Amino acid sequence: MKQKLEVVEILCRVNFMKTKIKNKISKYKNYSSLVNFISKKNIFQKKSINKIILSKNKNYFQDAESITKRILKVSRLINKKINLEKIAKIYLWYTDLLKKEELYFEKKRNYRHKSYKKVFEQVYNRPTYMFNYAIGLGVSQLFWENHLKVFQFYQKNLVKKVKKNSLIAEIGMGHGLFTAEIFKKHSKTDSLMFDVSDMCLNFAKKMSVVSGANVKNIKTSKVDIQKKVPIADGSLDILLLGEIIEHLAKGKKVMKTLSKKMKKNGLCYFSTPANGPAEDHILLFTKVNQIRNFIKECSWKIIKESPITLKGMSIDFAEKNSKVINYCAILQRK
Ligand SMILES: C[S@@+](CC[C@H](N)C(=O)[O-])C[C@H]1O[C@@H](n2cnc3c(N)ncnc32)[C@H](O)[C@@H]1O
Repeated sequence: MKQKLEVVEILCRVNFMKTKIKNKISKYKNYSSLVNFISKKNIFQKKSINKIILSKNKNYFQDAESITKRILKVSRLINKKINLEKIAKIYLWYTDLLKKEELYFEKKRNYRHKSYKKVFEQVYNRPTYMFNYAIGLGVSQLFWENHLKVFQFYQKNLVKKVKKNSLIAEIGMGHGLFTAEIFKKHSKTDSLMFDVSDMCLNFAKKMSVVSGANVKNIKTSKVDIQKKVPIADGSLDILLLGEIIEHLAKGKKVMKTLSKKMKKNGLCYFSTPANGPAEDHILLFTKVNQIRNFIKECSWKIIKESPITLKGMSIDFAEKNSKVINYCAILQRK
């Protein structure tokens, strides 16, 4: 009898949670369909997404609906056959890919690739692969606690400080949500976009346009930033360097060159992980101080920073146990 009562109690609690989650998201049509498709296909993702949903408020859901809608819109402009169910599948493919790299990193304490050329051939030079990469990474902005915190840091410390008529540049846009966030505020900003992948240039440009930008204000350039930095010295008000430096074999050279491209009071948003494996990461940082020293050695000063860990872990614990730390900062040239 007692056991039966316990089972009934658990079932009631589960139903209560289900209703609570449904009530929280049902208004946000695209977001809730995406959540449902992912949850049906993968129980682990379902659990972690439910946790996020229970902890968030209206602002998160409004942003999440807008991001989901825009990812769907841009994806359909590139491939008409895409729908939210396919986006869910692509996201799960992307999380599997990262899981594989995490297992490799746990064993070897090193990233899989050392050669940029190899990564270029296996990843950046494959348009369909990069289409899925842009979608997978874009969707991670909705559901990964660390990516959500990084985006909040970016909105608060960079987007809010961008002035009208600024010249902005982003290197390595992926899905393009970061530059697009500035266009949502200042539709007439001038933007330069640089990426080694045609697909990401196309995806990011469209992302800015569906977010309010005028296509005339966007210049895209396919370039390996390690070979060429086609930006005039002292010209940039804003530079976005989110999750790019760890992809490069010549990161130091690129960072040094880029500091010369900034105006005196220009702001640079910078993010990179320590212990953050991915199939296309080459430059491994294992400690926050290594990242700080790297920045300073490349002629930049740190104005504000936030090293973000998972589940409230201390930096010290994360460093000792090779757990990911998402470091983000606002920089100015020295
Ligand atoms: C992880 S994504 C970054 C997305 C976004 N900026 C963010 O903060 O999440 C890395 C991007 O860097 C681009 N990339 C990689 N190597 C590059 C290089 N040598 N020159 C220019 N872009 C590069 C990739 O094509 C991809 O779009």
